[in-house]
Amino acid sequence: MTEPYDTVDLIRIKRDHGELSTAQIDWMIDAYTRGYIADEQMAAMSMAIFLNGMERQEIRDLTLAMIASGERMNFDSLPKRTVDKHSTGGVGDKITLPLAPLVASFGIAVPQLSGRGLGHTGGTLDKLESIPGWQASISNARMSAILAEVGAVICAAGAGLAPADGKLYSLRDITSTVESIPLIASSIMSKKIAEGTSALVLDVKFGSGAFLKDIEHSRELARTMVALGEDAGVATSALLTNMNVPLGLAIGNANEVRESIEVLAGGGPADVVELTVALAREMLALAGQPDADVAAALADGSAMDTWRAMICAQGGDPDAALPAARERHVVTAARSGVLVEQLALPFGVAAWRLGAGRARKQDPVQHAAGIDLHAKPGDAVYEGQPLFTLSADEPERFARALESLEGAYRIGDVGDEILTGGPLVVERIRA
Ligand code: URA
Repeated sequence: MTEPYDTVDLIRIKRDHGELSTAQIDWMIDAYTRGYIADEQMAAMSMAIFLNGMERQEIRDLTLAMIASGERMNFDSLPKRTVDKHSTGGVGDKITLPLAPLVASFGIAVPQLSGRGLGHTGGTLDKLESIPGWQASISNARMSAILAEVGAVICAAGAGLAPADGKLYSLRDITSTVESIPLIASSIMSKKIAEGTSALVLDVKFGSGAFLKDIEHSRELARTMVALGEDAGVATSALLTNMNVPLGLAIGNANEVRESIEVLAGGGPADVVELTVALAREMLALAGQPDADVAAALADGSAMDTWRAMICAQGGDPDAALPAARERHVVTAARSGVLVEQLALPFGVAAWRLGAGRARKQDPVQHAAGIDLHAKPGDAVYEGQPLFTLSADEPERFARALESLEGAYRIGDVGDEILTGGPLVVERIRA
């Protein structure tokens, strides 16, 4: 087959701040997926895009080309509206767990194709796999059947969905080209659009524990993704949310499931409840139920009933005991005062070092490893009070986890400024 373009020419165009045409982008993604374009060439292209950016049309073309590289799911035959949610990832971010059954309890289908964690942000599938018997991989037919019966499915995305993104994302991971708005936006949206949802709510995070630290970049990412969704016919909105402080009190896998169940039982930490409710309202508004009483569904047990059905449908036992760690290490307050700072990123790194996350794709996670916080910024603490507990199966992991927590939290005096970086939900972005 004669190739219509030279890869080197296309790299040069982006290197020199030029714009690629639709045909050039279509060819580039197809040629990379079939192995004609080499990884080192695509790495150079990714770096050129990282440094010089892309025009709106190029980002749209890149997204559509990645969708076209694989299968496209379709839930049009379901007698329910479909709404999905995607979070750009953070520390203690277990919101999908209570959110999917909560929204499904209103008769909406929530098809959540999720991933496993890499680095300091955990993966939804890793968390759910701490429930005995629960299976992440199910067929498309089974997924449709559960959506029809239960309404909520959280499962592994098959390799057939946007395979070009899978290849490109692995390459970006090892070439320091992840934090690029055109590349992140096209990567996330190609998978979400290929998944076939009719509406989508994005939780775009900023702050110390987020991908993009400053709010301006996160806002631009959110706007870019909302425009991509709307262009593809998916009703899309985004909430910009604060990830300077860990979300909730649990960071890990099994402990995050436990905290999610508390929220479904009508309790749980205030910030987890606030974000779950805000995202549920947004999803239900896109699905035509702007007045749904979300708080009532948490209080009256209907969201919990859907959770139990969702876990059972994928082989899990919602009543089984969750795994417990073999070793614990409690860190106490060195003095009395007020907890004024608790930085998300070092706590995420510490949980990862305890075994809750993985350094390489093929590594297993330790489901019981993680951190339980006993105080949040603004809480009064007294000398000797437990501030947080580290859990791990191997006690030799504690030293490196504690190293990453040096300077990660601070006890001040009554009246000192509480450094949370502002409110949790900062802004809503719609087309
Ligand atoms: N998540 C994705 O799926 N892709 C990115 O590029 C970043 C986060």
